[in-house]
Amino acid sequence: MTTSNKTVYIDTVGCQMNVLDSELVIAALKKDGYSLTDSPADADVILFNTCSVRELAEEKTYSAVGRVVQHKRRDPNKVLGVIGCMAQKEQENVRHRHPLVDLVVGTGQLAKIPELVRTVQETRQPQYALSLGRKDAGRHEVEASFESYDPARDPEMRPTPFQAFVRVQIGCDKFCTYCVVPSTRGPEQSRHPDQIVHEARVLVDQGCKEVTLIGQTVNSYVFDHGDGRRTRLSDLISRLHDVPGLERIKFVTNFPKDMTNDLLDAVHHLPKVVKYLHVPVQSGCDEVLKRMKRLYTVAEYQEMLDRARERVPGVAVSSDFIVGFCGESEESFQKTMRLVEEAKFKNSFIFKYSERSGTKAAERYPDDVPEEVKKRRNNDLLAVQNANSLADHQAWIGKSVSVLVEGRSKRDQRTNHEPTAVPQLTGRTMTDHIVVFDAPDRVIGHTLTLDIEDASGFTLFGRVRTDEVIGVTGTAPPTMAPKPRRIGLSVV
Ligand code: 5AD
Ligand code: SF4
Repeated sequence: MTTSNKTVYIDTVGCQMNVLDSELVIAALKKDGYSLTDSPADADVILFNTCSVRELAEEKTYSAVGRVVQHKRRDPNKVLGVIGCMAQKEQENVRHRHPLVDLVVGTGQLAKIPELVRTVQETRQPQYALSLGRKDAGRHEVEASFESYDPARDPEMRPTPFQAFVRVQIGCDKFCTYCVVPSTRGPEQSRHPDQIVHEARVLVDQGCKEVTLIGQTVNSYVFDHGDGRRTRLSDLISRLHDVPGLERIKFVTNFPKDMTNDLLDAVHHLPKVVKYLHVPVQSGCDEVLKRMKRLYTVAEYQEMLDRARERVPGVAVSSDFIVGFCGESEESFQKTMRLVEEAKFKNSFIFKYSERSGTKAAERYPDDVPEEVKKRRNNDLLAVQNANSLADHQAWIGKSVSVLVEGRSKRDQRTNHEPTAVPQLTGRTMTDHIVVFDAPDRVIGHTLTLDIEDASGFTLFGRVRTDEVIGVTGTAPPTMAPKPRRIGLSVV
């Protein structure tokens, strides 16, 4: 079954893990003769790769599935699948709300999708593939039911052809009380470093210049070789640093308590490693952190932050916050405001607490902060963060930065561009700052030095040195031309 016109549509929401999972699922289906389509109406297989972190993400998926059910009614031969976190967490609910769904496949079972699609087509019976719950069996059995799934890669599905995610770890063992991830993605398991290095080499052969290592708590990565040797994240990035052709290495997301000095020193000393750390603190109040079971105090987080800035001069740090967590008083929230004022994060992702069934917080604490209060706190925190982001960005004016050019800026993707005009492009610095600038498409995928001339709270505005553009010869290969849409991604 390798030559046919079978098509697959995939809608992806959620975090980088989901983006990568979608890439791998599509790569596997392509081997089965499928090609990717942008239109669910035309697709033979329609997949929703889903997120359960907040209720809103789940509700949006239920609505999105509802919108495509009409296609399935019209053509019962279509295969309709819900995969990923919601499949694992919601299982029966998905089929209950949308009985025409044929496939429900959890995060640890994605490798089975091609086979399950064939089974649905042959039997017209719904297929479920789910991993064990955290309490359903012993740790070893539960671990085995979450398969690490990282086979063939598919450049067409990546955010850009020269950037790729590489999974170094699956699952999470932290059990923060608000979070569904330890259930939806299973026990924490680190991949063998040889596999990761091999994958990076394959990616570089495909034209990739930047890899982002992903794990829920990536800095707790440790591979035990079973003979007394252990590979930590610092060892892994040192090995990856030696891969010829690889230009940049990033890693997300970090857990504050696991930020060890060996890792910070590796970030400082290895020139290919991006000087940027995403280390979510979640709250600036010790009592709230305790109820969240984050395992550190505000003072311990601040010590980590000072240490990171001392050991990696110039490092940019970003954070996540949850506002309106159970029992968060106005006083608790003001402590978070003070932390954001003082910590000078490059940027912060701020979320209103969303109660998730099956979590400890849902069991133990009432969701007692009213929605309007959550909204107001979200806005207040964002205002403080935005002022800090603007100040941080303005400090770059007059400096030169090295930027990996990612593609056309959003503005340029939206407008109908005059063919003769120089397009506006976007890229990122070694501290993960976004820069927009005017330059021809042929520099997409290259690293350029830019002079920063202006800044907003979200973006730096740069000018390319003329000699840099002249130095980049040839035209961008067709795969590097801006595409209207690679995959539907809305970041968690
Ligand atoms: N409600 C709101 N935000 C949440 N996050 C995780 N679980 C929840 C929840 N139940 C946020 C955390 C995490 C980010 C990925 O999502 O801030 O760091
Ligand atoms: Fe969720 Fe906490 Fe694990 Fe992050 S560390 S995935 S917030 S349980």
